[in-house]
Amino acid sequence: MRIEISSGSAEFTRRLGKDFSSVLLPGDLIMLSGDLGGGKTTFISGLAKGLGIKEDITSPSFTLINEYRYRQGRFVHADLYRLEGLQDISDIGMDDYLYDENSIVCIEWGNKLGGTLAKDHLNIDFAYEWDVENKRKIVFNSKNKYWDLKLERFEEII
Ligand SMILES: Nc1ncnc2c1ncn2[C@@H]1O[C@H](COP(=O)(O)OP(=O)(O)OP(=O)(O)O)[C@@H](O)[C@H]1O
Ligand SMILES: [Mg+2]
Repeated sequence: MRIEISSGSAEFTRRLGKDFSSVLLPGDLIMLSGDLGGGKTTFISGLAKGLGIKEDITSPSFTLINEYRYRQGRFVHADLYRLEGLQDISDIGMDDYLYDENSIVCIEWGNKLGGTLAKDHLNIDFAYEWDVENKRKIVFNSKNKYWDLKLERFEEII
């Protein structure tokens, strides 16, 4: 299933993240990819807010991973932008975090893992639409029934 949404502002993208959070459960893994400045972190900050996290979400550029608590468990935000080249997930020692069944995990620039991600996940792509300022194209792509159902519920909310 594929959902394509046009966002006209950072506020709208944050709101989408917040709405999306309501279909998530511990163990869910989301990979966010696309243009630099496309809105991945903005979306994740809305998502975290939706989970009830009060702290401001900033990109974990140097640490690669930030973790937060929310009522149902742990929320993990990874940003692999600074990884040098393609790396295997076990080489970067993050299996415990990224495959944790008790955490909701969002990974920015997960493509740096070179396709070695072994766990079921949802892809969201963020692209500039150069014709209009602040416009972004956000595409949700599910590959199985589990994520299809979540995207259907998400579509009903937005
Ligand atoms: N429609 C929009 N959706 C999201 N962000 C927008 C939008 N329009 C403008 N912006 C601005 O674009 C920037 C998006 O930055 P953000 O850090 O969320 O992107 P990113 O995809 O995480 O970037 P990076 O690849 O560097 O991690 C912010 O400054 C935000 O205010
Ligand atoms: Mg970012």
